[in-house]
Amino acid sequence: METHLPRLPFPRPGAFGLPEEFRIFQRAKAPAKVLTATGDEAWLVTRYPDVRSLLADPRLGRAHPAPADAARLTASAVSTAGPVGSYASERADHARYRRRLTPAFSARRIRALRGRTEALLERVLDRMAGLTPPVDLHETLSMPLSLLVICELLGVPYGDHGQFRVLFDDISQTTDFARSTKARQELAAYMRELAERKLRSPGADLISDLVHSGEISLAPPPPGEVAGTDDLAQIAASLLFAGYRTTAIKVDYGVALLLSNDAQLAALRDDPGRAESATEEVLRYSSPDLPILRYAREDVDIAGTPVERGAAVLLSTLAANRDPSVFTAPDTFDISRDPNPHLSFGHGPRLCIGATLARVEIAAAFRMLFARIPSLRIAVPVEELTRRDGVLMGGLSTVPVEW
Ligand code: HEM
Repeated sequence: METHLPRLPFPRPGAFGLPEEFRIFQRAKAPAKVLTATGDEAWLVTRYPDVRSLLADPRLGRAHPAPADAARLTASAVSTAGPVGSYASERADHARYRRRLTPAFSARRIRALRGRTEALLERVLDRMAGLTPPVDLHETLSMPLSLLVICELLGVPYGDHGQFRVLFDDISQTTDFARSTKARQELAAYMRELAERKLRSPGADLISDLVHSGEISLAPPPPGEVAGTDDLAQIAASLLFAGYRTTAIKVDYGVALLLSNDAQLAALRDDPGRAESATEEVLRYSSPDLPILRYAREDVDIAGTPVERGAAVLLSTLAANRDPSVFTAPDTFDISRDPNPHLSFGHGPRLCIGATLARVEIAAAFRMLFARIPSLRIAVPVEELTRRDGVLMGGLSTVPVEW
């Protein structure tokens, strides 16, 4: 192993700054060999055109020809941190996964959720407005909103959130693989039990739809075996996980960014119709530290560099979303940026399936929060905000606000 290699994650200046290494790698134009947080070698790709085209490149995948030898991104057991699925059947498996999930995320269901999101948000905001400031925005607004909406979509009882929140925190920490794996199994068991209840008495929710489609197995994997891609409990758990904190993190970042940029906040207040473009800019500007993991399915050439079959390829949306060759003044937060072709939901066949829902939630939060609590301000200097380290999707530790 080449131990002198730069090791991820790189230090970031402040809560929103870009690591200097990314600019250096972008100028070099070739992928950079780095070490992941687990000390494994990988190729890091930072230029927008390369990241975008590789996200859609069928020569890269999420499965590994020899999974036991695969480089890992972190020590979390979350599927995005290491190899998943079968190398031989990956493409067919993934196409089937998308085919099954796409109807469950139908335009009709998301339209219905738009109205429900606003109603849930009103409730959360009423509660928040009754508290004595300062409060942590993450705990009082962003997390309850994100959880209420994902529970409603999936048909998971919101009252159980205390139980699965602990599991999520264990799954997403990035240093203890055994703890993360155990929590992942417990979440799948919770989901299996829920799916069995939905089989007996279905609701108008996504898990009920999946259970009753009859296409996905409810049977647990045989003892000692890992759940396959056809395991419903695993699919449901991964959906809950995918939609659980991701959106809350963006609401936190967005509110912090808006409250520390007077002109941008004034522009949004003058025209709440800007909430959608503000959402896109927040998504671009607050990309996670950790890149998207892929493995080369065959020997490939990446921007002139030969990359061997099985090598880990890390696609940094953080770097791509600040690439000066695509975004003018990339380090400036500008809610009227247009066009804004950020890669925060990925690109290609694995494009985020919950993107429309996430956009609806984030934009509604920006539109309604500043209208409901017009004197809202950040309670600490923005330079004092810190990121949550040691968890896969990052985010801000707390966002203290007052009014
Ligand atoms: C702002 C919030 C969100 C962000 C930034 C985000 C980001 C992403 C990204 C970057 C990917 C692609 C990963 C890859 O290429 O390997 C992805 C995939 C996915 N996302 Fe999201 N996501 C968000 C919210 C959600 C929500 C709310 C849900 C579900 C309710 C969801 C469900 C999924 C699923 C199921 C996939 C896997 C798609 C596949 O493998 O084909 N996401 N997301």
